[in-house]
Amino acid sequence: MRRALIAGAAALVAAGTFTFVITRAEAATQTLQSLAAAGGRYFGSATDNPELTDTAYTAILGGGEFGQTTPGNAMKWDSTEPTQNSFSFTKGDAVITFAQAHNMKVRGHTLLWHNQLPGWVSQLPAAQVQAAMENHITQVAAHYKGKVFAWDVVNEPFNDDGTFRSTSPFYTAMGSDYIADAFRTARAADPDAKLYINDYNTDGQGAKADAMYNLVKTLKAQGVPIDGVGFQAHLAIQYGFPTNMQANLQRFADLGVDVAITELDVRMVLPRDATKDATQATYYNNVVKACVAVTRCVGITIWDYTDKYSWVPSTFSGQGAALPWDENLAKKPTAYNAIVTGLGGTVSSASPSVTSASPSVSPSKSVSPSASASTSPPPAGACTATYKIVGSWPGGFQGEVSVAGTKPGWTVKWTFANGQTISQLWGGTVSQSGASVTVTPASWNATPPATFGFLASWNGTNAVPAVTCS
Ligand code: XIL
Repeated sequence: MRRALIAGAAALVAAGTFTFVITRAEAATQTLQSLAAAGGRYFGSATDNPELTDTAYTAILGGGEFGQTTPGNAMKWDSTEPTQNSFSFTKGDAVITFAQAHNMKVRGHTLLWHNQLPGWVSQLPAAQVQAAMENHITQVAAHYKGKVFAWDVVNEPFNDDGTFRSTSPFYTAMGSDYIADAFRTARAADPDAKLYINDYNTDGQGAKADAMYNLVKTLKAQGVPIDGVGFQAHLAIQYGFPTNMQANLQRFADLGVDVAITELDVRMVLPRDATKDATQATYYNNVVKACVAVTRCVGITIWDYTDKYSWVPSTFSGQGAALPWDENLAKKPTAYNAIVTGLGGTVSSASPSVTSASPSVSPSKSVSPSASASTSPPPAGACTATYKIVGSWPGGFQGEVSVAGTKPGWTVKWTFANGQTISQLWGGTVSQSGASVTVTPASWNATPPATFGFLASWNGTNAVPAVTCS
């Protein structure tokens, strides 16, 4: 749809000493979702209900980068059945409504988990647990039938050593048979949804992954209706990358199930710095490449897209900065580009737009251009800016400008030709006077490569302006 909307041409504009080249079709159509879809996969982001009132956040969530979402909390037991046999679907329905309005499919998460489980379940006499479990699965899966394409039926059944998690009231009451029973119950309630088992620390080979492998193999042999295995991939750079991730995914796929990366994030001990960012980027790249290399790896979901709403800081003390967009909703070029290249895309630094030299800045202050740049870098003390339309809808659009080069404390300027007005900008400070726009960086964003994004209004025509960087 977007492809059709902006299909067309490269614009070539010579303005004084500036040369400006933007291929609109290329610039506006490449998203994480479009790249994943080219390989038959989805790329998604989790979300949560409180975030859906943040319009700058939802503009990106629904703006084309993501073709799938997972409700972070809305479909868990404490949300859907807080008291026995009294169901509430309001929060999950809100996520479904958002997803449907923005062309995103939904993974249901999760029917059965030992966490976020209301107290009444744990307090049931053992003899009543199976009936309560089957009722919960039946009611929730039936409500979302046709609205979710997959369910995490059972979440986190194992301890890290590969033994079953005995703190689960389902395990306590029914032993490991609860798992097969849960899958059969879910299949009966929603025969079309893909049914997954999902866990963390199973991403690489090891005792826990072996336990999961043996369980799935046994379930398949018993004819239990299991369609997929989810690998959460909550990674941390200080713990190293999972062992042989691609081979691990492949051995599960070889059992005859789909696999998916379901909750990807890559945290670090704060504060964030360039070295940690670079390590994080290799993790993102490696996870994405592992999935892309496995035919039955159907998609990748990051556990929300922005540090603003990451679960990490409140769960892992002193850690954070785990996602490809920062707390100000600005893309981190390192992590984001690592995902793009992992998905087989090219990064936009290959098509620079405007260059203006500022010889007064000492080259010693400069940073090297991003390793992915394949064209010759601009001269020291210069910068380039590339403007693109990330997504647009009637009356509004989201834009993004990437700044490359060697000019700390850059200033980006352009003039709108069609009456566009910026309502919000992140990653910098904007001043708009009539059609003229000037953007200077937020302090943390002063050194290229840098990116800033904005929301603006448009009507009739929304031409890409010539942008200068100085
Ligand atoms: C997390 C949510 O993101 C938080 O908002 C909530 O407070 C706790 O749960 N594994 C899972 C997810 O399967 O459901 C968890 O989500 C993260 C770990």
